Amino acid sequence: MSLPTQSPKKVFIKTWGCQMNVYDSQRMQDVVKPLGYAPAEDMADADLVIFNTCHIREKATDKLFSELGRVRPHQKTKAENGGRMIVAVAGCVAQAEGAEIQRRAPYVDMVFGPQTYHQLPEMIARVSRNTGAVLNTEFPPEPKFDHLPQDRANPGVTAFLSIQEGCDKFCTFCVVPYTRGAEYSRSVAAIIAEAENLVQNGAREIMLLGQNVNAFHGEGIDGQSWRLGRLIYRLAKISRLKRIRYMTSHPRDMDDELIAAHRDIPQLMPFLHLPVQSGSDSILQAMNRKHTADDYRSTIDKLRNAQPNMALSSDFIVGFPGETDEDFKATLDLVREITFAQSFSFKYSCRPGTPAAAMQNQIDEKLKDTRLLELQSILRTQQEKFNHSMIGRTLPVLFENPSGREGMLFGRSPYMQAVRVAGSPRLVGEELPATITDAGGNSLTGSLQLADAA
Ligand code: SAH
Ligand code: SF4
Ligand code: F3S
Repeated sequence: MSLPTQSPKKVFIKTWGCQMNVYDSQRMQDVVKPLGYAPAEDMADADLVIFNTCHIREKATDKLFSELGRVRPHQKTKAENGGRMIVAVAGCVAQAEGAEIQRRAPYVDMVFGPQTYHQLPEMIARVSRNTGAVLNTEFPPEPKFDHLPQDRANPGVTAFLSIQEGCDKFCTFCVVPYTRGAEYSRSVAAIIAEAENLVQNGAREIMLLGQNVNAFHGEGIDGQSWRLGRLIYRLAKISRLKRIRYMTSHPRDMDDELIAAHRDIPQLMPFLHLPVQSGSDSILQAMNRKHTADDYRSTIDKLRNAQPNMALSSDFIVGFPGETDEDFKATLDLVREITFAQSFSFKYSCRPGTPAAAMQNQIDEKLKDTRLLELQSILRTQQEKFNHSMIGRTLPVLFENPSGREGMLFGRSPYMQAVRVAGSPRLVGEELPATITDAGGNSLTGSLQLADAA
C-alpha cells in the first residue's frame, strides 16, 4: 500500500545530545517522508521544524528557548504569507518539561518525547486540523520500533542502529531513566533486518546504539534471550559489513561473551567507550554506579588480554556532591594508570528531580572548574600521545566522505580517529591502508599507496 503523497513540503530538524538522538532524528525524517516532507537546508524554508532536544546537563532548556525565539519570526512571516510552519519540540527536554514548554512558548504546535515520534503522522494531522496543540509524552505500550518504516534510505558509510532504549540503572546524577523510560531491547530478527537494509543501502560500518547498549537482552532468533556479544557474532556474518561498534556501555554489563567477541571478530573495532565517571569508590557508590574502581580496572585487563590493541575512551564527572581532594586524586590516578585514547569530561550538573540534586554537600563551581581543567589537561596529553604514536604506522581507514578541501578524503581509523588523506571521491565506502604522516590532538593525516589513491 502506498501512502497518499501531497505537494512537496520541507522538514528541518535540529538535533542536540547523544547519538541516539541523531538516530531518532534520522528516523523522524523517514517517518514524515511518505507524507511528502523533504529535508530543508534552512529553517526559514521549512513547513515543519523539529527541535530534538537533550536534557543531560543544565543550559539544555535555555538553548531550546533561544532557538524557539529564533524560529518564531519565521513562523509569523509564513503565516502572514498564507502558509503554515508547524513547530515541534521532541526528545528529552520535551519528555521532562513538556507542559512548561507549552506554557512559555504557546506557539509550539507539538511536544513529544523520544518514545512517541512514530505517531508523527497522526500528530501532524491533528495540528493541521487546528484542534489545538499536541502534548505526547506517554511511554506507549507498543514500542516505536515496531512502527517505523523498514527502509533506511541513504544511511551513509557509517550508520547508527538503535538496538536498546532506556535505562534501569538510576545513577543518582542522571536524567536518562526518567526521559527515556525503562530499559527495552529490540528483537534480534528486527535488528538483523535493519542492519541488512543499511548495508544494502551503502553502509559499511554500523554503530549499535543504546543508552546502556551492553545491557542488551533481546529475543534471539532461537527464542532465547541474546546478549550483545551473541548479537555481534551474528551481525559479523553480514557480508560487506566491514566494521561494527557499539555505545554506550556500562562497566557492570561487560560480560565474558562480549569480551570474547573483541578477541574473535575482526569486524568488531578495537575501541571501546566505557564510562567510569570517577576513580573513587565512595563517589562511585554515591553515584549508584554499582561497580568499584577495581572492578573497572579488572574489566579493562580482561579486554586488553582479549584484544591487545584495545583503545579506550571514557566519560568523567568532576565535582559530584561530596567529592573530596582525595576522591578527585583517585580519579587522576585511575586515568594515569589506564590511559585513554579519547575522553569526555564534565562538571557535575545538578538535575532537578534526581537524587544527587538533593544531596547537601554540593561542590563550589570554582572548585569544579579547577578540577575539570586539571583532569582535562591530563586527558588531552594522553589523547595527543596516542595520536602521535600512530605516526609511521599503516592503519586501515574507512572513508566516509570527501573532506572539505578539494581532492581530500575523510575517514576513520579503527580507533575512531579522524584521518585525512589525498584520494579520489570514488574511494568513499572503501577501507584502505593509509600510512600516518602527521598527528594533531583531534585528527591524523595520512597517505594512501599510489595504486589506491588514483
Ligand atoms: N549511559 C551512559 C551515559 C549516558 S549520559 C553511561 O552509563 O555511562 C552521557 C554522559 O553524560 C555520562 O557518562 C556522564 O558522564 C554525563 N552526565 C550525565 N549526567 C550528568 C550530570 N548530571 N552532570 C554532569 N555530567 C553528566
Ligand atoms: Fe544515566 Fe547511569 Fe543509565 Fe548511564 S547508566 S544512562 S549514566 S542512569
Ligand atoms: Fe541527552 Fe536524552 Fe541522549 S538527555 S544524552 S538526548 S538520552
